[in-house]
Amino acid sequence: MGVPADRWRANRSVRVLADREAIFAAAAAEWTAQAEAAIAARGQFKVALAGGSTPKGLYDLLAGPVGANLPWDKTFFFFGDERHVPPDHADSNFRMAQEALLSRVPVPGENIFRVLAEETDAHIAAAKYDEALREFFGRVHFTVPRFDLILLGMGPDGHTASLFPGSSGLAEEDRWVIANWVEKFNTWRITFTYPVLNAARCVLFMAAGADKAAMLHTVLDTLEDDEAPMDEFPSRYVRPAHGDLIWMVDAAAGLQL
Ligand code: 6PG
Repeated sequence: MGVPADRWRANRSVRVLADREAIFAAAAAEWTAQAEAAIAARGQFKVALAGGSTPKGLYDLLAGPVGANLPWDKTFFFFGDERHVPPDHADSNFRMAQEALLSRVPVPGENIFRVLAEETDAHIAAAKYDEALREFFGRVHFTVPRFDLILLGMGPDGHTASLFPGSSGLAEEDRWVIANWVEKFNTWRITFTYPVLNAARCVLFMAAGADKAAMLHTVLDTLEDDEAPMDEFPSRYVRPAHGDLIWMVDAAAGLQL
């Protein structure tokens, strides 16, 4: 999965920052750098947002003065995963991003690609999103879509996006978006798979809180151990083949590093 550890070491960084606010400021600076580089090189900035609660602080910051001069008209938004709920549901990652960022910046509506998670069948929602990626990125020999930036979080159990320990989605190597059954929540989720995550030019993890310290140590300590069990801590398998991997964590989450 991913690139062999010895070829991979060079393009990763782990930054332990004072607190969540410091994470958001550093992440906003990285977002800005990635956006400027992408637009200079390709005329577009293709970003996949993370869900959960941590990224909300970054989205809120980007919606303010920090993001005032960002090229929103050239920014294209996707979602690394989505809960199997309608877009106005309290658990919707789209709703969180819409309220914290997308409704507050001048991004054209046609630049926002949400998961149609209101579909009663999660597999249909996933297939439609997979098709949306193929349409947007083009069908060039089915080359895996290469995002300029993918934001991710990590749960205390080591999951990222909606790739949870023990879930079948961990083994997916062909499809780009799948419906993944999450036993612990007794629900379907729609999620990017590792091929898409590991094709990114830059993956930026944000993790905060003491409840993540033990798992963070395990994940980062085994990043270069190709023999580590595959499905115990999914975040460790996010190792971009030709991109940067950046972990931004607060002091509490980084306590065991
Ligand atoms: C989701 C996210 C999920 C999240 C982690 C961490 O849909 O919930 O994709 O992977 O990033 O659960 O969540 P917090 O950042 O809120 O701790």
